[in-house]
Amino acid sequence: MTVEPARPFDWDGPNGDRWVANQARLDRMLAPFGEALIAAAEPREGERALDVGCGAGASAFELADRVGHDGRVVGLDISKALLARAEVLARNRTPAVEFRLADAATAAFARDFDLVVSRFGVMFFDQPIAAFRNIRSAMKPGGRLAFVCWRGAAENDWTRLPMGAIRDIVPPPPPPGPDAPGPFAFGERRRVQGILDQAGFIDIDIRPFDHPIVFGVGETPDDAIDDAVDNAVSVGPLERALKGCDAATATRALAAVRAAYARKVAPEGVVIEGAAWIVTARS
Ligand SMILES: C[S@@+](CC[C@H](N)C(=O)[O-])C[C@H]1O[C@@H](n2cnc3c(N)ncnc32)[C@H](O)[C@@H]1O
Repeated sequence: MTVEPARPFDWDGPNGDRWVANQARLDRMLAPFGEALIAAAEPREGERALDVGCGAGASAFELADRVGHDGRVVGLDISKALLARAEVLARNRTPAVEFRLADAATAAFARDFDLVVSRFGVMFFDQPIAAFRNIRSAMKPGGRLAFVCWRGAAENDWTRLPMGAIRDIVPPPPPPGPDAPGPFAFGERRRVQGILDQAGFIDIDIRPFDHPIVFGVGETPDDAIDDAVDNAVSVGPLERALKGCDAATATRALAAVRAAYARKVAPEGVVIEGAAWIVTARS
C-alpha cells in the first residue's frame, strides 16, 4: 500500500506528530463523542469491526472490548506516528486490535466487516464519495456504518472562541472552500447525506450531538486557562493562524485568547461547547 505523503492536513507528517504529542489530552476531550459513537454503532460480540482513521486507537480499543475475543477489530490510518502510538497503547491489551497503515479511500478490502466506525476520521478525504464507496466495499451487505464528525465551525467553540478572540489582531486565513477536506468538511447535513447516498449507503440517519469539552485543566483556574491556550496552539486552530506572526502580534493574540478562556472557567477546568453529528447508515 502506497501512502501519499502530501496532504493539506499532513496526517502522516507534522499534524500526526502533534496529535501523538497531545494524545492523552485529545482522548480526554473527545471521549464523550467516542462514547456517543459507540452507543450509536451498537457493536455486538463476535462482530468484525473496522475503525477508519483510528489515530491512536481509542475507539478501536472500545470496539475490541465490545466485540470480544470472538470478534475482530482493525484500526486503519494513514499516520505512521499515530499508529505507532496505538501499538504502544495496545500492548498487553486483550482482545487484540490489528492496526493497518493504509488510506481508507483506496485500500483494498475483503467484503467482511459487520461494522465500520470512525471518530472524527472521515472528513479529510479529497474525494469523499469515492472514499465512502471504497469503505462500503469493506462491508458485508447490510453492514452498519457509524461515525462522528464536527458540525460547522460557527457552532464549535474550540475554533470559534480563539478565532473570534484574535479577529482584530491577526488577519483571518482565507476561508476553506465549501467542499475542502478538513475538520468541518461535514458541517452541512445535506452534504453528508448526499455523499453517503451517492456512495450507495441506505438508511442514513444524521443527528446532532452536543457536548461540553473540557479544553483546559489544571490545579488552579489560571493553570487551566494556560492549558487551554497551549491546547489551542498545539492542536487547535491557532497552530495555523499564528504561523508567520511577529512576536508582538502573537503575544497580543494570545492575551486575547487567554481572556476569552478566562470567561469559560468551571470547576472542572476551561469548558467549551462542542457540536457534532452522529451519523449512521447501512451498506
Ligand atoms: C481528527 S483525527 C482522529 C483520530 C482518532 N480517530 C481519534 O478520534 O483520536 C483524524 C484521523 O484520520 C486519519 N485519516 C485522515 N485521512 C485518512 C485516510 N484517507 N485514510 C485513513 N485515515 C485517515 C488521520 O491520520 C487521523 O488519525
